[in-house]
Amino acid sequence: MRKHLVVLTGAGISAESGLKTFRDSDGLWENHRVEDVATPEAWHRDPHLVQRFYNMRRKAAAEAFPNEAHKTLAELESHFSISVITQNVDDLHERGGSSKVLHLHGELNKVRSVKNESLIYEIGDRQIEMGDLAEDGGQLRPHIVWFGEAVPMIEPAVEICRSADIFMVVGTSLQVYPAAGLIDYTPYDIPVFVIDKKRPQANLPSNIHFHQGAAGEVLPELKETLIQMI
Ligand code: APR
Repeated sequence: MRKHLVVLTGAGISAESGLKTFRDSDGLWENHRVEDVATPEAWHRDPHLVQRFYNMRRKAAAEAFPNEAHKTLAELESHFSISVITQNVDDLHERGGSSKVLHLHGELNKVRSVKNESLIYEIGDRQIEMGDLAEDGGQLRPHIVWFGEAVPMIEPAVEICRSADIFMVVGTSLQVYPAAGLIDYTPYDIPVFVIDKKRPQANLPSNIHFHQGAAGEVLPELKETLIQMI
């Protein structure tokens, strides 16, 4: 049986594709703090603003291309059984060739009815405005997990982590829970690799293999080391 490589990714893996991270930049969008447009409160206060924010992000993601980091993870599928658990809402893992991708925080290219959260539509890079309705008459909203909302995909993600043989964390500051806590569900004796430009300020096990650098450079270099572990 192939070894199960579980990879938790964050905004840093898409940085070299030109998409902004959250906590590296000044965190502002048109003078709003990003947190202020990614909450249910923001949606109630100013839904036009929230739609505009996600329309902008949807367009930026659609215009971006997978980088060497995304592609290397896809290439590793010929050696490992790989599960990617991503906090990213872009689809660069899928477009890079990864076949098993779980989105913890939703997906930019999907929207759903405010009346029924299982009425979900794939919209590609289409822009959504107030007044665009689902079949049930509910306003369409981004299919995104906002701050303060439940993270429905966390349970399957926990199960995936429990069955990891190797765990890898790429390009996340590990500041946002419950995603940041997933590492606690991995078997205690497996190898853990962390790849980031900066060592995350999180409580990580002392035996992690930290590789400092850009994901698009480090992952291709690390590929052989990983293959040797089979
Ligand atoms: N290669 C590797 N790591 C990088 C690169 C790069 N080229 N560029 C930046 N990084 C690292 C940063 O050092 C940082 O540790 O990526 C991490 C990005 O961290 P955040 O901006 O906090 O993004 P993330 O951890 O994905 O945020 C989690 O917070 O805002 C919410 O829902 C949003 O999913 C997001 C969640």
